[in-house]
Amino acid sequence: MSAKWLLFLQSFLFAILTHLAPFSTPIHKAPGTNVDRLALLAIKSMIKGDPQGLLTSWNQSSTDFCQWQGVTCSPRHQRVTHLDLSDGGLIGTLSPSIGNLSFLRVIQLFNNSFSNEIPPEIGRLFRLRELRLVYNSFTGKIPATIMNCSNLQVLKLGYNNLVGNIPDGIGSLSMLSFLYLNNNILQGGIPPEIWRLFRLQTLDLYNNFFTGNLLSIAPTLHTLSLCFNNFGGKLPSLTNGSALISLDLSRNYFVGSLHTLVCSNGVNKIEYLNLGYNQLSGVIPECWEKWSSLIVLGLSNNNLSGEIPRTLGSIPSLQLLNMGGNKISGSLPSSLMNLSYLKVLQLEQNNLVGIIPPWIGIKLTLLKLLNLRSNNFYGTIPHQLCYLSHAHILDLAHNNLSGNIPRCFNNFSVLSGIETNLENTFSFSCNSGSVYAVVSLVTKGREDTYDDILGLIMLLDLSSNNFSGRIPTELTSLHKLKSLNLSGNQLTGNIPNKIGDMKELESFDVSVNKLSGELPVSLSRLNFLSSFNVSYNNLIGRVPSSTQIQSFNESSFLGNKLCGAPLINDCVHVDKPDTTSDQKEDGGSHKVDWGLIISIVLGFITGFWAILVPLILNRSRRIAYFRLLRKLIKV
Ligand SMILES: *[C@@H]1O[C@H](CO)[C@@H](O)[C@H](O)[C@H]1NC(C)=O
Ligand SMILES: *[C@@H]1O[C@H](CO)[C@@H](O)[C@H](O)[C@H]1NC(C)=O
Ligand SMILES: *[C@@H]1O[C@H](CO)[C@@H](O)[C@H](O)[C@H]1NC(C)=O
Ligand SMILES: *[C@@H]1O[C@H](CO)[C@@H](O)[C@H](O)[C@H]1NC(C)=O
Ligand SMILES: *[C@@H]1O[C@H](CO)[C@@H](O)[C@H](O)[C@H]1NC(C)=O
Ligand SMILES: *[C@@H]1O[C@H](CO)[C@@H](O)[C@H](O)[C@H]1NC(C)=O
Ligand SMILES: *[C@@H]1O[C@H](CO)[C@@H](O)[C@H](O)[C@H]1NC(C)=O
Ligand SMILES: *[C@@H]1O[C@H](CO)[C@@H](O)[C@H](O)[C@H]1NC(C)=O
Ligand SMILES: *[C@@H]1O[C@H](CO)[C@@H](O)[C@H](O)[C@H]1NC(C)=O
Ligand SMILES: *[C@@H]1O[C@H](CO)[C@@H](O)[C@H](O)[C@H]1NC(C)=O
Ligand SMILES: *[C@@H]1O[C@H](CO)[C@@H](O)[C@H](O)[C@H]1NC(C)=O
Ligand SMILES: *[C@@H]1O[C@H](CO)[C@@H](O)[C@H](O)[C@H]1NC(C)=O
Repeated sequence: MSAKWLLFLQSFLFAILTHLAPFSTPIHKAPGTNVDRLALLAIKSMIKGDPQGLLTSWNQSSTDFCQWQGVTCSPRHQRVTHLDLSDGGLIGTLSPSIGNLSFLRVIQLFNNSFSNEIPPEIGRLFRLRELRLVYNSFTGKIPATIMNCSNLQVLKLGYNNLVGNIPDGIGSLSMLSFLYLNNNILQGGIPPEIWRLFRLQTLDLYNNFFTGNLLSIAPTLHTLSLCFNNFGGKLPSLTNGSALISLDLSRNYFVGSLHTLVCSNGVNKIEYLNLGYNQLSGVIPECWEKWSSLIVLGLSNNNLSGEIPRTLGSIPSLQLLNMGGNKISGSLPSSLMNLSYLKVLQLEQNNLVGIIPPWIGIKLTLLKLLNLRSNNFYGTIPHQLCYLSHAHILDLAHNNLSGNIPRCFNNFSVLSGIETNLENTFSFSCNSGSVYAVVSLVTKGREDTYDDILGLIMLLDLSSNNFSGRIPTELTSLHKLKSLNLSGNQLTGNIPNKIGDMKELESFDVSVNKLSGELPVSLSRLNFLSSFNVSYNNLIGRVPSSTQIQSFNESSFLGNKLCGAPLINDCVHVDKPDTTSDQKEDGGSHKVDWGLIISIVLGFITGFWAILVPLILNRSRRIAYFRLLRKLIKV
């Protein structure tokens, strides 16, 4: 073969390859492409588990790595610019070779199981703009070399097991806008140079072991979340011009007065403020007219005293207000009437007094959760409370309320199941300024904290008050109610027979009242019942049988004259359970005692002038009399 032939062959091949280049071989790519290919294969070689087969396309024989799943290249240079392996279920370590992908701008490894250290070689990626490693198992320190990635705008390392401090030099990341280090094991203080990052919008250090004081907050910041840390000292103030929208300092050790923060100038854009679970004290200042954008206000579980500030009424946008667990005194100020968008009102465990004002029902019609537990409210429940048709948590326990339980509670359309469109406005997150509500509620005899499932809780707790009268039958139309606690009152009469209609009931406590009659047989229909207490009443007769009821502890029935399993005394001396006493109430009996009717008619004629005439003049006695009459006829 001559040299000419060779030359021809060479140029022929060249021509063909040039045509095919976009489709196959890397020969005509920039010199760095093989580096990228080798680096990707090295990354794959360190991944030991790939349950979804995300990396099957990453193989030796397939040369065009720009087509590999999760890889994006720059069109011009055919170099890797984006690596996105999120939700891949990948198990392994991140190869130091990632530092060879020198054109990388975005690394997205959200929600995998990468462990061991973040390779310091990442510091060589000077083009990197976004490093997202959230939801993995990275350990070790945040590599100091990251401070060399001077184009970094987004650094999200949340939900890993990182230790140590925020590295010095963070101030050199002058493009940084979003810094998320939440849910790690980090410690130390916030380096002051962070406040000089003039593009920083979000700083989220939620759930670590950070310490130190918070002297100032950069005016550019939109979101600051420091909750669940060990920060202390006094609250900072916000200067005029602050861009802050969301501030969460809850669950730290901040002390002193609210005044510096609440009355500072730069608060007008804040929509979300949570200072709960600190050691703040003193009165709540009257500066709330500055907080014109506020939607969520959490001040719970501090040592705040004084009265509820009147100026809270000047935040019409407020939807969630939580001031439970303080030492707040006085009565509910009428200015709260202005909060017509309020969905959650939590004032439990304070020293509040006075009546439950009727305007709660008239003005706060969007309320879903009303918690006034453990205060000193007295008087009766105003019937206007029944206007709160969206309510699904009503906790008035441990007060000094009296009178009857309103019959109109059947107006609660969420609890009765008429309203089924349950948007979960309570979805709670400590970080990122999501709407917040965390609630402690007592169900099934224990106190639990609810957050994201709060929208599903259906609870009515009137326990430890001084309510009297019967349990209204209307209550049994609250078919969605999961927890009903009427314990520790002065209630009389029967347990309504229709209790069996409350199919979703999981917890039922009427202990320590003056209830009489028998346990309704329909109780045995409550299949979800897991907590049950009728102890210390005047109940008689046989305990109805169902797998649930017989499984309850004997102490659920004590202090009555009940018999049958699970109690040890059997029912030999007691008549067969007679359900007519329940049917009375529901109008179900048709047995007629003619002798009794004749005597009533005779008595009626003779007693007409003596009884009926005064009754015509007195309506409530009239109703009571006719109820008695009806009852007698039906015996
Ligand atoms: C990464 O680059 C270094 C030198 O720049 C080289 O020694 C190493 O082999 C490369 N690794 C891979 C997997 O290509
Ligand atoms: C390599 O990847 C290609 C797709 O890019 C695929 O068709 C081929 O089956 C893979 N080979 C192996 C050995 O996995
Ligand atoms: C994480 O990815 C898995 C699939 O690998 C998925 O089932 C899960 O919902 C994801 N978790 C989150 C928080 O996105
Ligand atoms: C940052 O890069 C420079 C060279 O560009 C190097 O000298 C220095 O050690 C690097 N710093 C870190 C913390 O890696
Ligand atoms: C805050 O700044 C604005 C201009 O940015 C100015 O109009 C306003 O008067 C300032 N308010 C106070 C209380 O300093
Ligand atoms: C709470 O405040 C009271 C005064 O109102 C004070 O005596 C008490 O020590 C404070 N408790 C805590 C834990 O700060
Ligand atoms: C109620 O709101 C209006 C404006 O929305 C305001 O003028 C009024 O002062 C507020 N009342 C109270 C008691 O805060
Ligand atoms: C039920 O609630 C509505 C408003 O939601 C109210 O107009 C009505 O009067 C209430 N009914 C009773 C009996 O309270
Ligand atoms: C409960 O309220 C009544 C008035 O309704 C009052 O006389 C009584 O002192 C109050 N009890 C307590 C413990 O506050
Ligand atoms: C009902 O309330 C009483 C008093 O508040 C409490 O002791 C009991 O544990 C509650 N019962 C249930 C089932 O939560
Ligand atoms: C409960 O109310 C009755 C009157 O209905 C009253 O005599 C009694 O003192 C009240 N109990 C408490 C603890 O307030
Ligand atoms: C039922 O209530 C009584 C009185 O409050 C209490 O002593 C008992 O422990 C309760 N039983 C159960 C099973 O909760």
